[in-house]
Amino acid sequence: MCGIVGYVGDRLAAPILLDGLSRLEYRGYDSAGIAVVESGKALTVRKASGKLSVLVESMKGAAPTGFSGIGHTRWATHGGPTEVNAHPHTDSNKNVVIVHNGIVENYLELKERLQAEGHRFTSETDSEVIAHLMESLMGRGLVFEEAVRMTAQRIQGAQAVVAMNVQEPGTLVAFRLGNAGGITVGYGQREMFLASDLPALLPHTSQVAFLAPGEMVSVDAREARFRSVQGAPIHKSPQAAPYDAVAIAKDGYRHFMLKEIMEQPGTVHRAIGGRVSFEPADVLLPDFPFTPAQVREVNRIVLTGMGTSLHACMVARYYMEQIAGVPAEIDNSSELRYRNPILDSRTLVVSVSQSGETADTLGAMEEAARSGAKQITICNVEGSQTTRMAHGTVFIGVGPEIGVASTKCLTGSLAALYLLATYLGKVRGTVDQARMTGLLNDLASAPRLIGQALEQREAFGRLAHEYADYYNFLYLGRGINMPVAMEGALKLKEVSYIHAEGYPAGEMKHGPIALISKDMPVVALAPRDHLYDKMRSNIQEVKARGGKVLALVTQGHHDLAGVADGLIEMPSTPYLVSPIVNVVPLQLLAYHMALERGCDVDQPRNLAKTVTVE
Ligand code: M6R
Repeated sequence: MCGIVGYVGDRLAAPILLDGLSRLEYRGYDSAGIAVVESGKALTVRKASGKLSVLVESMKGAAPTGFSGIGHTRWATHGGPTEVNAHPHTDSNKNVVIVHNGIVENYLELKERLQAEGHRFTSETDSEVIAHLMESLMGRGLVFEEAVRMTAQRIQGAQAVVAMNVQEPGTLVAFRLGNAGGITVGYGQREMFLASDLPALLPHTSQVAFLAPGEMVSVDAREARFRSVQGAPIHKSPQAAPYDAVAIAKDGYRHFMLKEIMEQPGTVHRAIGGRVSFEPADVLLPDFPFTPAQVREVNRIVLTGMGTSLHACMVARYYMEQIAGVPAEIDNSSELRYRNPILDSRTLVVSVSQSGETADTLGAMEEAARSGAKQITICNVEGSQTTRMAHGTVFIGVGPEIGVASTKCLTGSLAALYLLATYLGKVRGTVDQARMTGLLNDLASAPRLIGQALEQREAFGRLAHEYADYYNFLYLGRGINMPVAMEGALKLKEVSYIHAEGYPAGEMKHGPIALISKDMPVVALAPRDHLYDKMRSNIQEVKARGGKVLALVTQGHHDLAGVADGLIEMPSTPYLVSPIVNVVPLQLLAYHMALERGCDVDQPRNLAKTVTVE
């Protein structure tokens, strides 16, 4: 969602802020702005609706020249994506300026009170109330830092805020409440940085510290001082950033999404590597937080996440049941959190979130924590909120994912979940040495098989050319590949804006079949597994109704050749590993369809990389 940057030091702030914002563009946004205190203490605020390039263009030859400032890319919640609603926001007298991520849930009540005091509001946002509240508190005699701290105590909801004050331009004050995204402090030489995400900081420093919920920080060019929003001092030392700047470059690819699809043989290998041994075969999860006795007392697993991570959960249900031998269910986190679910200390809640900051997933985890459930999270970002909330983490370990459409994090999550299930099965006695060897050999084949799938990359450009003018798609799958069908449909709608729905193929006759016509292509996952004959029948039913079918089939099995309109041939893959491989062509199809339709692949409209509001 919104991206935040801040700078204080001896270099011109504006170029650093704009560069930082450009590195956060992947998060998704609809307007951008910066505020810089110029010499002579004037505050300059520049904003623009639309892409960051519009803001940059508007400042050509007239960029503000101060040495401290804050910047923001906004993903609209309250008020449209206009220039006026863009951040930074100021108080009535342009003394205080803020950038904000999250929602001020009590903003209407605060706004009415502040308006009654004479504050003049200019935007439709909830965020503006923060600057006015700070102004009001300073008017009552509080120094700036205290006014920020008191503001943090008065606003409700999850927020991340950075504030600056014209009277003390060399100090930035930030706080974090709940889980509306993070604030990271970057330590430089006689300069300090703040950002919602690491990519904005990495060109300048690899020494960072993270704010936890309920913490605030004041930074000047020399140091960072941490406190709780209640006022207690906190000692924090900088630590090495978990990523480097090289890892987030495009490496010659046209888009991050393509780079991230293409690097999956390596990233899945990384997700597995270091956690398995083959002589003898074994899974090693050294930081696993539960004792064998605790693992054996688990009588149910609840898998939860959102979007692509929820699809990972749907696949992992098979892993938990078929490998670990534990009854498993899946729950969308935004539903789980409000359902008063029946969970207890014998339930293992496995949350999946590549970012570790998704508001609904964190809400579901809070609910699980209240009921005393055991919690493991699958996450790609060290230090993120889910990793702090769960008892233990299995890191995805695939490096930063920048494209808004999740690709390599899905295949990495699936590898991590497979390993988790295998580990649980070993402890619970459902996986003996022979099975362990078989399971790990199967998983170890995934990078090679993904590589083979990627060899057909060129074909997807041609397929996209053929299919890009359709407005509706149906994706069908069965068994462990049913969630892959849902993921294929999600990828297509996210990046190409084509309406697509993923269904269990068996459900088709119960309604969706009414939609079948020559104008709605069906992408059918029909690998040669125990459900192939059923899938083949479903494909015949579509064809019998004049539908157009693009079938994903196993190489060397050509009996759909005369039936389907197009075939995507995939290497033969062990059943439980097949989602990790079969999702790859669907990612490529979505990518090429988006290109064909001229869409902004890495920053699709309306989407945010990390969804920090409900
Ligand atoms: O960071 P998370 O894995 O928790 O994110 C969950 C979803 O927001 C995410 O998977 C979303 O659906 C992606 N845009 C999918 O490509």
